[in-house]
Amino acid sequence: MRQRNIKNLQEKLELNSAYLIREPESCRGRWREVFGNDAPIYLEIGCGKGRFITGCAAAHPERNYIAIEGQSNVALRALEKAAALEQNNLRIVIAYVADLLAFFAEGELAGIYLNFSDPWPKARHAKRRLTYHKRLENYKQVLAGGGAIEFKTDNDQLFNFTLDEIARAGCEVLALSRDLHGETAGSAEAAAGEDASQFGEAASQFGEAAGQLGEAASQLTEYEERFMQAGKNINYVKF
Ligand SMILES: C[S@@+](CC[C@H](N)C(=O)[O-])C[C@H]1O[C@@H](n2cnc3c(N)ncnc32)[C@H](O)[C@@H]1O
Repeated sequence: MRQRNIKNLQEKLELNSAYLIREPESCRGRWREVFGNDAPIYLEIGCGKGRFITGCAAAHPERNYIAIEGQSNVALRALEKAAALEQNNLRIVIAYVADLLAFFAEGELAGIYLNFSDPWPKARHAKRRLTYHKRLENYKQVLAGGGAIEFKTDNDQLFNFTLDEIARAGCEVLALSRDLHGETAGSAEAAAGEDASQFGEAASQFGEAAGQLGEAASQLTEYEERFMQAGKNINYVKF
């Protein structure tokens, strides 16, 4: 998601600073104090312009949300949305996060969302993908018991890679769909069962995966809307 430079970016960030966390390291283990309540906390990594996370925050005022975005000019759009909606249950962090334990204590999060993460198509860049197994292991450390990760992508190769990495990280697939908004939408079992054969060995071992779709299935992202309009199937997995 490339954006042109924004004039007076720092001033604009400052204007919306009530929703911006500038030192996430200092919040580690005390995010409940930041929000001023004990509600469960959900994280999105790579929130882009924030449509998804502001949608979640509006739909669930009883939950807290944190969105991390590496590009400050893109994160500004998410900040502006949060401010316009006065979403006191949402905070934005501007950072390219590598180790979630730098920002969160073990078990501090109730769920993690990864939406349309950069595919890094070259094999030598596999470790940069946000679903690389070492990263998944890291994410699991900051999740509370019963907390899940939800991942959506238009990229079938990245999805298959991710299914392999889920297995490598020792995680269990809880729900899966290869066509979240298509004819099979609403039935993860049918979607997984019918389509798994097209996607090779890694995918077929999850052919029977079924389950309850999570929150990520019902909130659209900016990229998702674009791919849906182009007729692309959206892959979804919860684990
Ligand atoms: C392809 S865009 C998708 C944006 C949004 N999730 C959507 O679906 O519309 C991926 C975004 O993730 C951000 N990103 C990639 N790696 C990141 C990281 N390690 N930490 C924070 N943001 C990251 C990028 O800057 C980019 O804005």
